[in-house]
Amino acid sequence: GKVCLAYSGGLDTSIILAWLLEQGYEVVAFMADVGQEEDFAAAKAKALKIGATKFVCVDCTAQFVEDILFPAVQVNAVYEDVYLLGTSLARPVIAKAQIDVAEAEGCFAVAHGCTGKGNDQIRFELSFYALKPDVVCIAPWRLPEFFERFAGRADLLDYAAAKGIPVTQTKSKPWSTDENQAHISYEAGILEDPNTTPPKDMWKLITDPQDAPDQPQDLQIDFEKGLPVKVQFKCNKTGKEVVATTPLDIFNTVSNVARANGVGRIDIVEDRYINLKSRGCYEQAPLTVLRRAHVDLEGLVLDKEVRSLRDAFVTPNYSRLLYNGSYFTPECEFIRSMIKPSQETVNGTVRLQLYKGNVIVLGRYSNTEKLYDATESSMDELTGFLPTDTTGFIAIQAIRIKKYGQAKKDRNEK
Ligand code: ARG
Ligand code: SIN
Repeated sequence: GKVCLAYSGGLDTSIILAWLLEQGYEVVAFMADVGQEEDFAAAKAKALKIGATKFVCVDCTAQFVEDILFPAVQVNAVYEDVYLLGTSLARPVIAKAQIDVAEAEGCFAVAHGCTGKGNDQIRFELSFYALKPDVVCIAPWRLPEFFERFAGRADLLDYAAAKGIPVTQTKSKPWSTDENQAHISYEAGILEDPNTTPPKDMWKLITDPQDAPDQPQDLQIDFEKGLPVKVQFKCNKTGKEVVATTPLDIFNTVSNVARANGVGRIDIVEDRYINLKSRGCYEQAPLTVLRRAHVDLEGLVLDKEVRSLRDAFVTPNYSRLLYNGSYFTPECEFIRSMIKPSQETVNGTVRLQLYKGNVIVLGRYSNTEKLYDATESSMDELTGFLPTDTTGFIAIQAIRIKKYGQAKKDRNEK
């Protein structure tokens, strides 16, 4: 039968490709373009040389931004306070594209190179089963006949030599990465000691804040219903006016300017779905800027109680479901359906400044939304309601607070 393998061009998936062929399968090598820096032609040549019947690369970049990344901005998605979910968000798009290829090519199975200890295996496989319930998943790193044979890197290299698989980077980097247009992750290897500071040359996408330009870069982002619709700035470096108006262009434009100004690096220890703690470093430039701008605009235009309920319920649940690989589930469909109605009034513009790793809000306005009323909240004006109205408001609020205070007093509690 035919197997559709998620192929990266690296050592592991090249070995898996050769091993699947050795098991008697025909292999279609699949690759998703999610905005990572990649030599797709070289990967194709390598897959075909090893023996894949076909190589299929699917451009998912626009769909990734429109279907997944922008809704994540709308809901302020974040995991454990800092991780903006770059890898988690890409998985549903990649899984969907892989299933489409598997179906088009008549594959009975899909295979991937995720380890048995991570989140990604769960994300991919739960997505596969939701999208094609009868599909067979081959996860070699969880099969004894595979992991016992390739116990160490030396075994992989020996096998590569025996099968004539070209090993491009002889000295591989002492960590593992996953890249897409939202971010790059660095995990494992020397990073497994959470107190080891990553070397300066690990970071690949974002300029070191210390080396970022001395001149702050101003920009402005327009939102409609919580979605970025325009980004605009005069580029310090070129002196040119930059304007982007399509989702993909907006995302990449924000990404470039944020990266150049050192914005979006983090270093954390996170909780994986499988209950292991893991240290990870991430460069998440575009989502850092877009999320900050979006949160700021919500302060101006979003109803207080809608915001509070969304923050308590929708944002944490959506983020956790994405992290845990539950994008294609009934509960995620349910939570997702609440994003759009929360964003009807999120219309306006945020002006930002990027400066050596910082995102500074310069101001915000909305031409359509009237929730914020400068006169109403002004300390110098008397309008809308009277000071004596507030006396009553406090008196009513105080009814049960007084009882609480009295009960404590009666029990002689401090
Ligand atoms: N820890 C992050 C997450 O679970 C990044 C995972 C990176 N995946 C990879 N295959 N290198 O979302
Ligand atoms: C892996 O284990 O394959 C990568 C890390 C993860 O999935 O969490």
